[in-house]
Order: sequence, then structure tokens, then C-alpha cells
Amino acid sequence: MTLSLLGKLGGGLVLAEAQGGFWMPPKASTFAEGVDGLFDFILILSIVFFVGLMALMVYFAVKYRRTHVEQKTSPLKHSFKLEFLWSAIPTVLLLVIFAWGQRDFILMNAVPDSALDVRVTGQKWSWSIGYPSLGKECQNKLVVPLGEPVKLTISSVDVLHSFWIPAFRLKRDALPNKYTGYWFEATQTGDFPLYCAEYCGTDHSVMTGRVQVLDAEAWKAWVASDDCAGLDPTAADYGEKLFVKYGCNACHSVEGVRLVGPPLNGIYGKPETMQDGSQVTVDDNYLREAILDPNASIVQGFAPAMPTFQGRLTDQELNGIIDYIKQLGGDAAPANP
Ligand code: CUA
Repeated sequence: MTLSLLGKLGGGLVLAEAQGGFWMPPKASTFAEGVDGLFDFILILSIVFFVGLMALMVYFAVKYRRTHVEQKTSPLKHSFKLEFLWSAIPTVLLLVIFAWGQRDFILMNAVPDSALDVRVTGQKWSWSIGYPSLGKECQNKLVVPLGEPVKLTISSVDVLHSFWIPAFRLKRDALPNKYTGYWFEATQTGDFPLYCAEYCGTDHSVMTGRVQVLDAEAWKAWVASDDCAGLDPTAADYGEKLFVKYGCNACHSVEGVRLVGPPLNGIYGKPETMQDGSQVTVDDNYLREAILDPNASIVQGFAPAMPTFQGRLTDQELNGIIDYIKQLGGDAAPANP
């Protein structure tokens, strides 16, 4: 009763819709079995040794305790057999753990040639997930086919992040200026959470997303659909989609709410007070500078937290975002409420 309640609680904490148990989320990749097996092995080994050693310690403490003041420690002898065994047994156990871990580590790094290439880029505080061969780019959503190898190439545009999919038992740091990565093969369809597992600043805790594993038919349909498709520069919502694509919405509200950065609704054409006390009117050139060189001037009451978008946006995209901000209605929210 207590156990099943604990199990429910633990499962709920780890993953709301989990089929997983108290310890672990569901096993949804080919690596999960090996990782869990090794984890269980080390855990059981630790429990056996801990309980055994503590029991022996208590037993000896009672059996050989000093019973009167004159009692002396008897002369110490050493036992070669015992000393050999307590060195040899742990050595063998450690070698087993090493070999077991090494086997899975090698498997995790041997990417099959047929793997689908996916690019994962972290930024404060969202994940861009691109499919070069499909012309798709998703935000905080990784869609993969069931039972097919998928290779992730992971990087970051700003600080250290870490791309973690608990259900696949995979986690690797996302580094600026260097690629890392891993591959996997999903073994069950469904929807699994993904996280950033490296503390990366204010909104680290919301840098999460979903992994969707689709069966062959659903995968085909997804590939053909316009979900996560490239953006159409002539569409009315081009700028709005870019705003989400580049993660602007992680820090800037368009509804007057103060997040990490100032809210952007109703600011166009209005004066803003900068950190040095100067007033700037928000126009196209100001917005352009704020996007490409964010630290050149900081709005009063905010920290210089924004990464530069120099070299990441095409002129067309830059215009699209500026046009979007331009038409955002509503009263300008006070920058420093
Ligand atoms: Cu990104 Cu924590």
C-alpha cells in the first residue's frame, strides 16, 4: 500500500503520464535496458555491502566490547586469506561494472550509417530542433520514427546546456563552439519529456520540451505535413513564427508581462529609458540594434542577458521580426514596474 503510493508519487514526479515506476521513467530506447540493468546492479551491490558491513560492525562492537577496565586488546595477527579476498572480490566486481558500462558506452557512440540526422541547438532558454534532410525545424519538440536510428548533433549558441531525454536514458552537454551528440532508437511510441540538465540561468527550469515517437505511418504523415515546416516569408504570421522559432518569446512577453526582458507590446514609436538615463524612441533602427547588438544599450531595470542574433538572422528574418513587434498593439507596459 505504502509502496504503491510512493510509486505513484515518484512516478508522478518523474513523469505525469509515465508507464514508468517509482525509480525510473519508461524504457523507450534500446539503451534503456542496459542503463537500468547496470544501475540496478550497482544499487543492489551497494545495499548488500552496506548492510553486510554495518551488521558485522555492530556484531563485532558487541562481541568484542571491553567488559572491565583492565582488559587489554589481544595481540593482532593478520590473515593473508582474508586480506586477499577483500581486495580480490571488490576488484572483480569493479571490473564487471567497468566492462558492462564500457560495452554500453561503445554502443552509444557507434552511430549506424542509416541514422536520421537531427540538429539540436540550445539557447537561453529553448531548444531548436532541425531536420536538414526534411527541411523542418521544430521548437522544443523532437519528433522521431519508431525503431529507426536517429542521430542528434548538439550545440549551443550561448552558454552550456544539456540535452536530456530520461525515457531514452541519454544526456549530453550542449557546448558553444563545439558539437556533441548521441544516437538512439526509440522502442515505444508516445510522448516523453525532454529537459535541459545544466543550470543555464534564470529560466533554466522552463527549458523543457517533448519527444514524440511516431510509428511508421504517423511518421510518414508528419514528414509530409507542414508541422515544423520552413516559414513562408509572405505569410501574415511570418514574424510571429520567427519570434517563437528564435526563442524571443522565452524572455519577451507580448502581453505586457515582465519576464527576463522587457515586454514588447505597444513599445513601437514610444520612448524607452535606458540604463544610463537617456531616452530612446523605439523605431526600426533601435529594434535592429537591440536584436543584433543587445548589450549596446540596456533598458533601465533589466540585466544585459540577451545573446546577440548577429549572423543568425537573415535580413528578411530581421525585418519579419521588426514588423511583428511594430504591429503589436496595447499600451506600452512600464519597463520598471
Ligand atoms: Cu539550458 Cu539549463
